[in-house]
Amino acid sequence: MNNPKNVTVIDHPLVRHKLTLMRKKETSCGEFRLLLNEISLLLAYEVTRDFPLKEIEIETPLEKMRAQVIEGKKLVLVSILRAGNGLLDGMLQLIPSARVGHIGLYRDPQTLMPVKYYCKMPSEVDQRDMIVVDPMLATGHSAVAAIDEMKKLNPKSIKFVSLVAAPEGINTLHSAHPDVSIYTASIDRQLNDHGYILPGLGDAGDRIYGTK
Ligand code: URA
Repeated sequence: MNNPKNVTVIDHPLVRHKLTLMRKKETSCGEFRLLLNEISLLLAYEVTRDFPLKEIEIETPLEKMRAQVIEGKKLVLVSILRAGNGLLDGMLQLIPSARVGHIGLYRDPQTLMPVKYYCKMPSEVDQRDMIVVDPMLATGHSAVAAIDEMKKLNPKSIKFVSLVAAPEGINTLHSAHPDVSIYTASIDRQLNDHGYILPGLGDAGDRIYGTK
């Protein structure tokens, strides 16, 4: 379903079920990673739904036919480090030919705003559609900063995929980049004073990698 903020909530029963398991505090690191991997396949399925197709001629064992394949240059998936990699791995299982970029941002202790410390992108981004991934769309500042950087490379289109989004993050991202479609499995209630999503699932990076 699409709404004026350009948000699609992917609320398939399998996604809801797996997200509930991920939210539970007793879910182990290994289970969390596995569930994130499974959910990311389902998110990838939805986010690529409108990709354009073209016809090519192929030969089955019985006869020639015209059949459809995705048109254009390979897609580029961009992971916002480090939690983005948890979504990236599953999406790559479904779209193994995608190119991959990484962007790392840290929060400046004075300004509290994100500062880029790493960015490695594939070639010819201007000829590719782009999907930026980060499991938690919280304040939205990292997402905005990452997309600011990506727009300098002039991709054909940009979509943003998260697992859980806060209304504040959606507003911030949509205000800065209204052309970017946002996909998420859930819009949660709010942020707390530390910028964590409530009810959320905690720190996604820590839960994926078993850090504190
Ligand atoms: N990042 C996280 O990992 N979790 C949150 O709730 C917010 C930001």
